[in-house]
Amino acid sequence: MSKVEGRAGIESIESVDGDTSFWTDSDALVSCLREAPPRIPSHFGYDALGSNLFEEITALPDYYLTRVEDGLLRRHANDIADELGTPWIAELGSGSAKKTRVLLAACAARRQTTFLPIDVSREMLVSSGDALAIDCRDVTVRGLWGRYEAGLRWIRRERSTPVTVTLLGSTLGNTTPTERRNLLTEITRTLAPGDCFLVSVDLIKPAHIFESCYNDPPGHSAFVRFRLNHLAHINRRFDGDFVLDRFQARAHYNEHTHAVEGHLYATKDHMAKLRALDVELKFRAGDSINVGFSAKFDPSRFVDNMRQFDLIPHTHWIDQRWKYGLFLFHRR
Ligand code: TRP
Repeated sequence: MSKVEGRAGIESIESVDGDTSFWTDSDALVSCLREAPPRIPSHFGYDALGSNLFEEITALPDYYLTRVEDGLLRRHANDIADELGTPWIAELGSGSAKKTRVLLAACAARRQTTFLPIDVSREMLVSSGDALAIDCRDVTVRGLWGRYEAGLRWIRRERSTPVTVTLLGSTLGNTTPTERRNLLTEITRTLAPGDCFLVSVDLIKPAHIFESCYNDPPGHSAFVRFRLNHLAHINRRFDGDFVLDRFQARAHYNEHTHAVEGHLYATKDHMAKLRALDVELKFRAGDSINVGFSAKFDPSRFVDNMRQFDLIPHTHWIDQRWKYGLFLFHRR
């Protein structure tokens, strides 16, 4: 554990996933690159630069998710804090953790509260943890640096009080169906009976809304840079030679899978290599790499599906205008 000493701010940051070695864990990457079309696992989007680009995305005019969620959390922070009742609150993929602040403040007003942000970007953990510890002095912040599964494993080992796990920002949608089942299974394994799971998801709507939400409006480039940064990141980690300007970024909504898919399309025939992995990819003009899913949910099916993970619906808050939902479950 590293103690961040001598100043007000985050209490500690623990590396829970083998320092930076998780970034070079090649198994998941290689099998995703073998899918058709090849895919880059979503956590590669969140190095220091990617995390900042993601913050830029959340400020784009048509990207409503962050603003709507923020409104829901602000409006209902006291109700949610009343329902939670757990001294520990862990957030998967905390990022800037701006959205979580009002909720944590409401929790800290009711009980002694420790916040455990889990994120792959150490830079983001330090800056968001510091800001939060200064803004909400009553909250103890202990950052867990690593992937979700590693953070959850740490909680299973170290927990001594009831726990809430939060997964906000419709992050549950940034998974394939298999990844989603695995993640929910890990979350359920981590929770004890009566513990809470607070999760938000974006709800199904007409395709055109998603097409403008997930592409840059004229004069902006945050999405394009965020998506291309996946290539720059894996080039750096795996001695790759992807040429970024041989790709064009575009997202579209798949009505069958109810998911927005972010793709990088090759603009000409070419090859790219990742020497450290001994992987070579061949592209024809128009072929794509998948750099992210954002699945959308039907609220009643979503709630029903969670029962198979022993997550029992408790309360939910849905915004009427945008149809974005915040759902609270108790572990059976
Ligand atoms: N979960 C949010 C969403 O689906 C944010 C997000 C995660 C995102 N990864 C992304 C948005 C990649 C755009 C692209 O919208």
